[in-house]
Amino acid sequence: MVRCGSVASLLSLPLLTEAFQGLPVPVSVLRKQVKSPSGLSVQETDEVAATYPAYTISTPIDHFHNDSIYEPHSDGYYDMRYWFDAQYYEEGGPVIVLAAGETSGANRLPFLQKGIVAQLASATKGIGVILEHRYYGESWPVPDLSTPNLRFLTTDQALADTAYFAQNVKFEGLEDYDLSPNNTAYIAYGGSYAGAFVAILRKLYPDIYYGAISSSGVTEAIYDYWQYFEAARIFGPPACIEATQKVTNVVDNILIGHNGSDYVTELKKAFGLGGVKSNPDFANALTGGISGLQSYNWDPTQSSDEFFVYCDIVGNDTVYYPDTESLRPTVEKLISVGGWENETSTLTNHFLNYIGYVRDTRVASCDGDQEECFSTSDPDFYAQTAITQTWKSWPYQYCTQWGYLATGSGVPAGQLPLISRTIDIPYNAAICAQAFNITTPSDVEAINKYGGFNLSYPRLAFIDGEWDPWRAATPHALEVPERPDTIDEPFRLIAKAVHHWDENGLFPNETTADLPPTAVKEVQQYEAVFVQEWLKEWNAKSAKGGLP
Ligand SMILES: *[C@@H]1O[C@H](CO)[C@@H](O)[C@H](O)[C@H]1NC(C)=O
Ligand SMILES: *[C@@H]1O[C@H](CO)[C@@H](O)[C@H](O)[C@H]1NC(C)=O
Ligand SMILES: *[C@@H]1O[C@H](CO)[C@@H](O)[C@H](O)[C@H]1NC(C)=O
Ligand SMILES: *[C@@H]1O[C@H](CO)[C@@H](O)[C@H](O)[C@H]1NC(C)=O
Ligand SMILES: *[C@@H]1O[C@H](CO)[C@@H](O)[C@H](O)[C@H]1NC(C)=O
Ligand SMILES: *[C@@H]1O[C@H](CO)[C@@H](O)[C@H](O)[C@H]1NC(C)=O
Ligand SMILES: *[C@@H]1O[C@H](CO)[C@@H](O)[C@H](O)[C@H]1NC(C)=O
Ligand SMILES: *[C@@H]1O[C@H](CO)[C@@H](O)[C@H](O)[C@H]1NC(C)=O
Repeated sequence: MVRCGSVASLLSLPLLTEAFQGLPVPVSVLRKQVKSPSGLSVQETDEVAATYPAYTISTPIDHFHNDSIYEPHSDGYYDMRYWFDAQYYEEGGPVIVLAAGETSGANRLPFLQKGIVAQLASATKGIGVILEHRYYGESWPVPDLSTPNLRFLTTDQALADTAYFAQNVKFEGLEDYDLSPNNTAYIAYGGSYAGAFVAILRKLYPDIYYGAISSSGVTEAIYDYWQYFEAARIFGPPACIEATQKVTNVVDNILIGHNGSDYVTELKKAFGLGGVKSNPDFANALTGGISGLQSYNWDPTQSSDEFFVYCDIVGNDTVYYPDTESLRPTVEKLISVGGWENETSTLTNHFLNYIGYVRDTRVASCDGDQEECFSTSDPDFYAQTAITQTWKSWPYQYCTQWGYLATGSGVPAGQLPLISRTIDIPYNAAICAQAFNITTPSDVEAINKYGGFNLSYPRLAFIDGEWDPWRAATPHALEVPERPDTIDEPFRLIAKAVHHWDENGLFPNETTADLPPTAVKEVQQYEAVFVQEWLKEWNAKSAKGGLP
């Protein structure tokens, strides 16, 4: 595995704010995501957001008065936010709806401006839309985030919102066109969680959404998602992966105490993390490099190179940080008590590089008390219910339904994990108990009943990335039989790509010989082609009066 093109920056830190990640996030990081009360109502001042006015559509809070899990029911409506771009629209063209998923919809506006939505809208003379998911951004159906008020935050309710949108939206300035789904083809696109979301949408609302593209769509909900690190293990630079596995095993033999529990304090101090009390919090603070793969993107302005920076350093045989030399005797001892004395001569430099990397990134980024910087436990913080605690939404979704707790403990015995086995389900699920009083595993069946790995439907495309940590939860998972790739059910793996790489795009004046990479250009062209073919079917049927 090699990175494509972009320049490594040693100072770039992993994108810790990425919600969809799998490992517990320190409370100090969540604190930074708490919105100021005014931040919830003012329009994002971001440059792209400024070019698109935001609209809202009044939407039922509770679409399922027949289902007791939503009791007490609500007859109310809330304002769901969306943006659209009709610059390419010609009468008869489709509506391309990007489901924004588990973040503010404003973060998805670049896809409307120059990414996949702009590309599909331009290829089909359609209208591009970004539709915000309930309980994210500014689309709040409730006044606060007490656990009872989170009951309307289910994928089923959000899917029903998306169907309701197509049936009820009136686009400003386009009132003279019949844009109801009986007369206009609606095509959904989503990446990651939203990718699974649009796949289920197509299956549940086939008469409303005529087609869908699921990019890195995690259609299989998995509670213990130890497979998150399989992409790095299988495709990552071998020297880096081997060193990470062995150092992690030394750490585990000391932390879990098979042989060296007396050395726990010495181990933490060697990494510069002597102030972190909990062993899994300490182990979690070591994972920043190896978990950076997800944030690697072909577009240098959107990418974090952290995974490759880390791997170049830790995989290197020579000492990278000269000031770690003084730790050599300590590291040799730790390796020995950690069970790898037989490889001390080759492992020591890698271990010193790992230590240097952690000190240079994580430790250096903490300018206060280490316990405050790295602890993931704080019942008082998690118990807050103000609407400004917007970090609560995705954990609620994964604690109740989606799972995806990334662990080291789930790795089969006999395989060396890339993160510590102390990162286990109780550690990863602690937020579920502290924030929501949820102590039972997520109800993954609520999602997997729609098909999981096997989810398929006519005019539903699956586009995935070969190196994506989330591939193991998609229909392109390695163990799942390969499907045929057809215009009706497109099924493409982008070579040497990571997480929903087809979603980004560049303005014509930003492209270069290498950007976007050929594999991305090809798959985006393919998406335009198969959507155009779907629209030919739509037009043929509509000419016969046989719709939807
Ligand atoms: C409620 O109605 C929807 C269709 O509107 C149906 O799919 C669902 O199964 C029903 N739920 C219950 C609990 O009956
Ligand atoms: C759309 O078509 C369905 C099924 O034919 C019909 O029940 C519905 O009333 C139509 N909606 C509109 C707005 O025409
Ligand atoms: C190891 O690091 C040295 C010094 O930075 C560098 O010259 C060398 O190319 C690196 N080796 C590998 C295999 O990355
Ligand atoms: C246990 O630690 C001792 C040194 O204290 C070392 O010689 C031995 O190899 C270790 N054994 C295992 C199984 O890790
Ligand atoms: C060193 O010991 C480990 C653990 O016992 C073993 O897996 C590994 O193969 C040994 N390495 C060598 C070079 O013998
Ligand atoms: C937490 O849930 C248990 C049952 O699962 C219940 O007995 C307890 O009262 C709940 N605690 C809070 C604070 O809601
Ligand atoms: C998924 O599809 C494969 C191949 O058609 C089949 O063998 C398998 O049983 C299916 N799995 C489930 C859970 O339906
Ligand atoms: C590139 O093109 C975009 C869209 O047409 C435009 O907004 C932007 O100003 C251009 N950038 C430069 C540097 O010319």
